[in-house]
Amino acid sequence: MKRILSITMLLGAALGAQAAMTPEQIDAKVADLISKMTVEEKCGQLVQRSGVGLTDYMVNDIKGGAVGSLLNEVDPETVNALQKIAVEQTRLGIPIVFARDVIHGFKTIFPIPLGQAATWNLDLVEQGARVAADEASSTGVRWTFSPMVDVSRDARWGRIAESAGEDPYLSGLMGVAMVKGYQGDDLTKPNTMAACVKHFVGYGASEGGLDYNTTWIPEVQLRDVYLPPFKACSDAGAATFMCSFNDICGVPSSGNSWLLRDVLRGEWGFDGLVVSDWGSIQQMIPHGFSQDITEAAYQGAMAGVDMDMENGAYNEPLIELVKAGKVPMATLDEMVANVLRLKYRLGLFENPYVDLKTANRFYTPENLQAARETAVESMVLLKNDGVLPLAPGKKIALIGPMANAQHDQNGTWCFDLDKTHSVTALTALQDRYGKDNVIYAPGLTYSRQRDTKGFDDALAAARQADVIIFVGGEEAVLSGEAHCRTDISLPGAQSQLLAALKETGKPVVTVIMTGRPMTIAQDVDNSNAVVYAFHLGTMAGPAVADVLSGDKNFSGHLPVCLPKSVGQMPLYYAHKNTGRPASGIVLIDDIPQEAGQTSTGCTAFYLDAGAGPLYPFGFGLSYTTFDYGTPSLSATEIGKDGEIEVTCRVTNTGKVAGKEVPQLYVRDLVGSLVRPVRELKGFEKIELAPGESKDVKFTLKADDLAYHNLKGERVVEPGDFQLWVSPDAASGDPVPFTVK
Ligand code: NOJ
Repeated sequence: MKRILSITMLLGAALGAQAAMTPEQIDAKVADLISKMTVEEKCGQLVQRSGVGLTDYMVNDIKGGAVGSLLNEVDPETVNALQKIAVEQTRLGIPIVFARDVIHGFKTIFPIPLGQAATWNLDLVEQGARVAADEASSTGVRWTFSPMVDVSRDARWGRIAESAGEDPYLSGLMGVAMVKGYQGDDLTKPNTMAACVKHFVGYGASEGGLDYNTTWIPEVQLRDVYLPPFKACSDAGAATFMCSFNDICGVPSSGNSWLLRDVLRGEWGFDGLVVSDWGSIQQMIPHGFSQDITEAAYQGAMAGVDMDMENGAYNEPLIELVKAGKVPMATLDEMVANVLRLKYRLGLFENPYVDLKTANRFYTPENLQAARETAVESMVLLKNDGVLPLAPGKKIALIGPMANAQHDQNGTWCFDLDKTHSVTALTALQDRYGKDNVIYAPGLTYSRQRDTKGFDDALAAARQADVIIFVGGEEAVLSGEAHCRTDISLPGAQSQLLAALKETGKPVVTVIMTGRPMTIAQDVDNSNAVVYAFHLGTMAGPAVADVLSGDKNFSGHLPVCLPKSVGQMPLYYAHKNTGRPASGIVLIDDIPQEAGQTSTGCTAFYLDAGAGPLYPFGFGLSYTTFDYGTPSLSATEIGKDGEIEVTCRVTNTGKVAGKEVPQLYVRDLVGSLVRPVRELKGFEKIELAPGESKDVKFTLKADDLAYHNLKGERVVEPGDFQLWVSPDAASGDPVPFTVK
């Protein structure tokens, strides 16, 4: 991994990185340029347009200085031609910054971000972002709209696919790894991209898991749950932020000056660029927050949205507002400075063009290998009765709609995908086990298919085989932006097919390729082994073959709870306890007729789902087993400035090498506000040979226990705490400690 990072960074140098200017030098250049700009030229810099090709209107707008950034052009020759107009045919020659949604790979597709989070491997995630930056920048794209660090606790929400899941700490670390990968060590290198941390903020809390929906997030929750991953990315030097579509407590983010000015810039010291989401300034009109486009432009500018993505608010409306003195020139100048600063940081003034000699660097063997390694570590083994690994020579019936889905295995956000490069499970298993040993009969040709006419062939194949591999899940289009579902079970007739396959008596290995946590309890019951694979990208097939054959061990762990039922949403491990925590669970079928109202014990559980998830956050099996010793603490009593070194011996007690993710959780037993039952505070991915032990060490600072009280103060409250070092959020024995 270090090798691929250094190869691509060296390549960046060879491609002609400029010596980076100091922040002071950049500020001086920016101020000088602004002093020469007309109001029209200034507002033009704040406009991001979407377009492809050298269309007349685009050429004219660029010539007229009305385009600061262009979204979606990915042909390097066209990029250069458009850039030449900006640089050579406008009065001030300010280059355009070209942008694109490069979310989990550009051409070489990596697992969806939710899958990448399941690796719990920050090096792999950084490497994936580095590969994406190298490929995309080779077409001229220097700005990506990633990472998305929206804490996502509702599996109905299609965009959970694009997130790192339900936990603020894990989301922050994943975001930081991506920022580092995209931006590299020097943003002026032409093979880097500016990151854009999105969607600021609270988008994951959209009510009912419905995209774009309203949110109601009290400040304490905003500060403890939704803001921390953004803060982590800002601290890591992310160049840009995107504000979100949703409103929080009635204020759309594009008009929220408290968020953008007070918190982001004031408290965090962010000096990068804030871009709106697509049309989100104009959308304050249908929100019912702005009367018209002029008011929306005013509110966006005053709130601190520097650039308007595709909706015309910052052309004429903003020009007029500035000329009328309603938006102060100083405010406009700040916005323009944020845009120009990004262009200097990217080295675009010195190096505006793509080097066509090295353009279109895609699908290198190193990039494909990186995608494969990440896909291997993204997969979570949920169940294995011993059927896995599959020895060579096995006769396999390969069934299911995702087994040969060259498009769908890649998941959401693959604008630049060339599916002919995708290697499917069918191809990879044929390579691994021999063509004659793989009988392919999908049963269903796509995930939503309801008719069962293919079942007979699938069942016939199953009867001839030693083992059935069922690769199902969701097509790519069923998750992602605006693709929410109220039923998150396997779509179409997949569960029916699985049940029929079980009836054959042959062992069933189920692989779920999906963009979200799904309700698969019955499918788990109908399978001898279950692999939760997410959408794995270009190298899905080889990665699946790697783990099913046992060439590679499983090491993925869930970055989200897997629910028993959609009715549990929102579902997350770090919930509060209630005054009546679940106990004495009685399920619906066990309640006698005419039982009294209090017969179930009156605690917090569902009659038809009990309490808790099907599989907890952090969960993941492998081909080996790990034993966790009792954590030892360097101190069991600390002051508010103190820290504890927590040591836990983890031993590989199985017969093969494996990677494990010991996770550190804490609980604050009594607070001035009730605290979550567990919160993740650390983890490490370790590799152990059979029989090998390692003392895993975490430093837990008292400050890590801080949270926000109702006055908005960040406090560490004295009292009794517990900690766990465990393989998931639901196991392990608590160890007490006290903060004095
Ligand atoms: C809307 C999405 O919400 C955002 O994530 C994306 O980056 C922009 N569109 C640009 O395509």
